[in-house]
Amino acid sequence: MTISPPGEALKRQAHLFDRLVGGTPGLLFTTDPGLEDLAAAEAVDRLGQRIHGGLYERRPHGFHGHALILPPRHDPSIRAIARQMRSVHHVVEPRYAFQLSADDPLGGIRSTLAERGVEGDLHTQGSFRVTSNRHGEHPFCSTDVQRVAGAGLVERHGMKVDLTNFDTEIRVDVRHGQCLVGLQLTRERLSKRPWRLYHPRASLRANVAYALLRFAGISEGRLLDPFCGSATIPIEATSFGPDLQIVASDYSEEAIEGARKNIAAANVADRISIDQHDLSDLRSNHQEGSFDLIVTNPPYGIRVGQGMNFFAFYAAFLRTAAYLLRPGGCLVFLAWKRGIVDKVLQQGDGLLQRRHSRIIEMGGIYPRIYVLDRL
Ligand SMILES: C[S@@+](CC[C@H](N)C(=O)[O-])C[C@H]1O[C@@H](n2cnc3c(N)ncnc32)[C@H](O)[C@@H]1O
Repeated sequence: MTISPPGEALKRQAHLFDRLVGGTPGLLFTTDPGLEDLAAAEAVDRLGQRIHGGLYERRPHGFHGHALILPPRHDPSIRAIARQMRSVHHVVEPRYAFQLSADDPLGGIRSTLAERGVEGDLHTQGSFRVTSNRHGEHPFCSTDVQRVAGAGLVERHGMKVDLTNFDTEIRVDVRHGQCLVGLQLTRERLSKRPWRLYHPRASLRANVAYALLRFAGISEGRLLDPFCGSATIPIEATSFGPDLQIVASDYSEEAIEGARKNIAAANVADRISIDQHDLSDLRSNHQEGSFDLIVTNPPYGIRVGQGMNFFAFYAAFLRTAAYLLRPGGCLVFLAWKRGIVDKVLQQGDGLLQRRHSRIIEMGGIYPRIYVLDRL
């Protein structure tokens, strides 16, 4: 795939929310900040002609982690296909955006929802709940937003609130002075994969694992994850086609045992070869140049690897990766200690050349994705 998606298929446009009122339903995807264009690129791949020629806005109204697409025409099949997305958390049909009142923000949310409601989708017999993500400095919390927005919607549509057995989920997200209202099409987070039985704290979000694999852009050849942990990346890799041979390792016995449970639950044991190895053993266990792709998530030094010498660690990791990759191969990884990685790359032997890098936000930390070509 190209690194600057979504390419030709969608025209980038500002203030797209203003175009939604009374027209073709749009699609709003929520993902981790920094991956918005990748979500749009995946939507283009999955939805093809259905959205070809449509409009696209990254971070509408400044909402990080949101990608908004306005298809060229109404097509009822879009909703079901959008629910298959792997790079996103939720799919929302956006309705409208408005500016919070400076004097009485909660009163303003209630009165706007009471006046405008969420037309077309609420049935007076059904129940609903409001969920809210809030970002910025406010004298209220997201539960307050849910309460006042819910009260406004009850006033407008006369429906009952049910927090667990709801028919419809309305999202009312607040970021600084802006508020976005939409109908959430996904119940569970799409990024929460059903195979996850072993879930260590350091495990990677599956949608981010998917994103790393898309950056690598290969659907055949041999792929290695040498810090596989719970096997998120190897399991995600199986969705990239049957021609990818997937090899995974980790030095922790517990991780290998847990990864095997997840692999079995995902029903992909025949696709992944997994063994316990330290990084330092890999040269003796695999031949030089025997991989086309290394996609991995080394320890950050937050939960795993505290007290490690990260300069020495990354130097050893990058030397090993350059040895194992064939010329023309690709290394994609995520690193939190960005300064150290940059220094190691500067001082390295030049065998790995940076094709792309970007910082993303994941639950309050800001790691960088590196995409390096093996020269
Ligand atoms: C951030 S975690 C990987 C998480 C994984 N992507 C997942 O989703 O579960 C880093 C992993 O590297 C492993 N590790 C740390 N140092 C290692 C080394 N020297 N050799 C091999 N594995 C190592 C740890 O056991 C841990 O599972």
